[in-house]
Amino acid sequence: MTQTLQAVRGMNDILPDDAEIWENFEDIIRDWLRGYGYRPIRLPVVEPTPLFQRAIGEVTDIVEKEMYSFEDALNGEKLTLRPEGTAGCVRAAIQHGLAAAGGGGRRLWYQGPMFRHERPQKGRYRQFHQVGVEALGFAGPDIDAELIVMGARLWGQLGLADVRLELNSLGSAQERASHRAALVAYLEEHRDALDEDGRRRLHSNPLRILDTKNPALQEIVEAAPKLLDHLGDASRAHFEAVQAMLHDAGIACHVNHRLVRGLDYYNRTVFEWVADRLGAQGTVCAGGRYDTLVEQLGGKPMPAAGFAMGVERLLALWLEGGEAEYAIARPTPDVYVVHQGECARRLAFRAAEALRDVGLNILLHCGEEGSFKSQMRKADGSGAQLALVIGDDEAAAMDVGIKPLRGGGAQRRVPFAVLAEAVLDVLHGSDEDHERAEPEKAGQDAGAKDGSV
Ligand code: HAM
Repeated sequence: MTQTLQAVRGMNDILPDDAEIWENFEDIIRDWLRGYGYRPIRLPVVEPTPLFQRAIGEVTDIVEKEMYSFEDALNGEKLTLRPEGTAGCVRAAIQHGLAAAGGGGRRLWYQGPMFRHERPQKGRYRQFHQVGVEALGFAGPDIDAELIVMGARLWGQLGLADVRLELNSLGSAQERASHRAALVAYLEEHRDALDEDGRRRLHSNPLRILDTKNPALQEIVEAAPKLLDHLGDASRAHFEAVQAMLHDAGIACHVNHRLVRGLDYYNRTVFEWVADRLGAQGTVCAGGRYDTLVEQLGGKPMPAAGFAMGVERLLALWLEGGEAEYAIARPTPDVYVVHQGECARRLAFRAAEALRDVGLNILLHCGEEGSFKSQMRKADGSGAQLALVIGDDEAAAMDVGIKPLRGGGAQRRVPFAVLAEAVLDVLHGSDEDHERAEPEKAGQDAGAKDGSV
């Protein structure tokens, strides 16, 4: 027997029941983003590898070990499946002059799959999805605060009460250099106590040592020199202004001196929204300011900030505790069309199209015909409001039976020519003629055609 093939580990199928939940989520997301003036941008999944090396940084977990990279078979160009969206978005903005246009700043958002070769576990996948926003051309603390307030509003809309904010400032490159020198000197003193990862990063990326999860290093890391003490006046004022605006918006935040983020492009404000309920993979949204990235990627110098949310993690939270009822609301057809007999099948096909012409969602019984009874069972199970019932009797007279499936009501028969009107009337409950409609003769009811339903 041929062996069946499976999806790649850490890359998940999203089956219809879940995909409908994703669609409900995406509806909310689109409205929420419009409320803040963000416009959509759709970006390629594959980008040149150097884009990520330059943007995210050579000495980061993502670039060192998590990228899916390959060579173009024709020209040998090094390509990578995008591990995140900021680099591609900035690349596109530069390439198409979006960032320069108008000078007033650009608010862009994107969504889609990202790829990182990580060890798969709950909340951590090799193909995962982000909704990301990038605000290009904004220097002030107001956009940092707005990005954070946006998150808070979304958690409110999704009914998520327990997502907390962690905030930090990474200052400027010079401020980080001054902090880094102090940090390296301090860590050198504790070199023997560091783990292998720490020793490896001591000179390449000492800031990431502050982020270690190793319990044995927590004491050393707690007492390490703080970046906040190396911030100059401008960075300090910026950070204080962000916090003041968050305070005004009623958002509680915890300044976490050890929050450094795993990508190198950040400066000044960085933040993460964390849901402890999700355990180790609890960060549902993360971002910050990246004022030098546009220039680093070849554009004119331009301040910018943004964030990205992990869709799988947010959906897990939403389903567990949020507005779960809305989350799992499923679209149902308005009408299910049942039919029996050759002429009836052809009229049923036309009837379904005629109803779609007036904007209704129709499920036409297709494939094996089965009895009226079994078709009606399917109609009922579909969640449709109405069944159209067409037998050869109806087809011969160019009539169609309309049978309400919810809340009772007799089946009635209408000429095909007025079908759409009659169905809309019944669906909208405004059919004054409904009561007066000639009731079906006993025995012509769909259920009675082949016994009972
Ligand atoms: P990031 O922190 O690498 O930032 O990812 C953002 C979010 O994506 C994380 O907080 C998490 O929810 C989700 N995520 C990351 N990796 C995985 C994974 N393997 N499985 C499931 N979810 C995951 C960025 O990507 C930046 N580009 C964010 C940004 C936008 N900064 C400025 N603008």
